[in-house]
Amino acid sequence: MGSMSVEGKKRILTGIRPTGPLHLGHYAGALENWVRLQADYECYFLIADYQVSDFADDIARVREAVWEVALDWLAVGLDPERSIFVIESLIPEHAELTVWLSWFLPLGMLQRNPTLKAEMEDFGRKSVPVAFFTYPVMQVANILLPRAHLVPVGEDQLPHIELTREVARRFNRQFKEVFPEPEGLVGRVPRLVGLDGQAKMSKSLDNAIYLNDPPGVVNEKVRSMYTDPTRLRASDPGHVEGNPVFLYHDVFNPDRDEVEDLKDRYRRGAVGDVEVKQKLATALNAFLDPIRERRAHYAANMRLVREALASGADRARQTAQTTMALVRHALDLGYLKKF
Ligand code: TRP
Repeated sequence: MGSMSVEGKKRILTGIRPTGPLHLGHYAGALENWVRLQADYECYFLIADYQVSDFADDIARVREAVWEVALDWLAVGLDPERSIFVIESLIPEHAELTVWLSWFLPLGMLQRNPTLKAEMEDFGRKSVPVAFFTYPVMQVANILLPRAHLVPVGEDQLPHIELTREVARRFNRQFKEVFPEPEGLVGRVPRLVGLDGQAKMSKSLDNAIYLNDPPGVVNEKVRSMYTDPTRLRASDPGHVEGNPVFLYHDVFNPDRDEVEDLKDRYRRGAVGDVEVKQKLATALNAFLDPIRERRAHYAANMRLVREALASGADRARQTAQTTMALVRHALDLGYLKKF
């Protein structure tokens, strides 16, 4: 058993919950990194459809979102020839490994997981499905099934990677060295603020620009963005730091001179919000144009999307079977070989 792939590359596994189309926050926090990492790693990109039990009353939405996510991935340049697209529930070994691994994860570690705790509080008075409480265990299995070395994710996912490392260590120590201890890797922009200035761009807060928003929608969303609330006139000196419009300029406008000039004039009260926002909308649309083009190409050829998902499932299944054979061997589960 080699711990590397056939081509000698280390492996990546990362994933996303299928809740709908992806936005700029997904891009800056994750996708941008994933596209780059494809060159040096064997990448497994997972659509975690077991991880959306909060949509149990709207399964149709989950089904639709799986396709939206796959389209967005192809649109940003994830390459199904090089990388492996995985719909989680098509690989039953995810469920199987989850059950074995849950033997080796202390309940207290799950209860103390800060990301899970915060998400459980978001349920408020609504009841929490058991599957929601145990999703981090499933995520541990997602990462360990392909025996991944690296997990590029948003900052909020790091506690789950800690659990994964702990489970891998315990399993390897008690049985056999089956699993690498995976590392997390956080992107250039761990968390992108929302259009409204809230800490996070998110669908549920309705403060996002989507990768598939048409230019007119982007213009309109940028026009109504939150800026510096202390600034009443264009001639008032303004705050650049923490101002979402400038945060987006920093992330998405490649014309550094333009950005520096705008910041300088903003601080001096020598530019209006309108100009700063117009230039941002132009930069965002220029960034999104090639993504829109590729998305339109695939949307008109859904057969290609289907093929990406089908071949990904085949390849992921093979790796999954290899790992499960190693796990059974390590646990000495060859019951029927005995007599
Ligand atoms: N929980 C992750 C999120 O909400 C998605 C995810 C599922 C994931 N399985 C994963 C991330 C495995 C990394 C590795 O974004």
